[in-house]
Amino acid sequence: MKIGWQSPSNIALVKYWGKRDPQLPSNPSISFTLEACHSQTFVEFEVGQGISLHLDGVDTPSFVPKISQFIERILPRHPWLADYRLTVETHNSFPHSSGIASSASGMSALALCVVDAAIALGHTLAEADPRREASILSRLGSGSASRSVYGGLVAWGETPSVPGGHDAYAIPYPHAVHPLFHTFCDVVVLVDVGQKAVSSTAGHALMDKHPFAQQRFKQAHRHMADLRGILSQGEVLPFLDLVESEALTLHGLMMSSQPSYILMRPNTLHILEAIRQFRHESGMPIGFTLDAGSNVHVLFPKEVEQSAMRFVSDVLAPYAKDHRFIADRVGQGPVSLQ
Ligand code: DP6
Repeated sequence: MKIGWQSPSNIALVKYWGKRDPQLPSNPSISFTLEACHSQTFVEFEVGQGISLHLDGVDTPSFVPKISQFIERILPRHPWLADYRLTVETHNSFPHSSGIASSASGMSALALCVVDAAIALGHTLAEADPRREASILSRLGSGSASRSVYGGLVAWGETPSVPGGHDAYAIPYPHAVHPLFHTFCDVVVLVDVGQKAVSSTAGHALMDKHPFAQQRFKQAHRHMADLRGILSQGEVLPFLDLVESEALTLHGLMMSSQPSYILMRPNTLHILEAIRQFRHESGMPIGFTLDAGSNVHVLFPKEVEQSAMRFVSDVLAPYAKDHRFIADRVGQGPVSLQ
């Protein structure tokens, strides 16, 4: 039996940073699901044992331990997997060396395949809703992957302003959202493609003894609450302020932890300053967010796409490695490849 899914990456607006066992977040988060950055994964399930993985057609044993760990974690919910051999073929739409994490798209694609296989084999899912089951499994693979199983705006984690929000799985954002956020653009400017972002395991662990942890977790709840009005009213500038504050907080937490990490590169800062200056001078709604790395996600509504793209190509791209950037936007979520 062979099952395939295409599943997207996502970019957090309120960041998940800090977790407890088993892969439960210390604070709520919300993301835009992306479109162009995705993984396409086929899994062949055969009776037997073992795992093999082909990335872009090349046998890649170095990824097998990560998948074995994922299978081990989901085994209590899917004990049938113990009797199957998995052959995974996966392809990322974004270049392997781009510094864009493939864990959200890759893990969610794999989880969606497992859920479909379980259904095809006649097993009863622990969650009645297959997509929710896929979100739970994805989370066990990589926390942020839990949000990749839905399109648009997706929330993960319990917080008073998000009814139905849960630490174990993500949900489509349950409040009214102004149409301009349905088509938001995200251009990823690739600053230092060889540079490895801090590993998520190391990163989240930094929050365990972080002196600012409790304040940070409170701030994330507050930001989730503030976003409700901002998103429903289409308040783009307050949106960009909040999202930039989240990105800089994430990096501030890394810089003020023990050990400390500085993941922004000089060109990252040049880009952030150029964006703020351009916004200030032109009044155009354009802002940024960051992952746990040096690349910059440039955010703007579709209605200003033409001038924003000109600004990206003319002003920001010269700070990127080989002038590279990936033009992405809010996407519709995973697609079955059957
Ligand atoms: C900065 O989901 O990669 O991108 O659960 O350990 O796999 P694990 O971590 P991961 O952490 C993502 C951190 C972030 C913020 C976010 O996506 O919310």
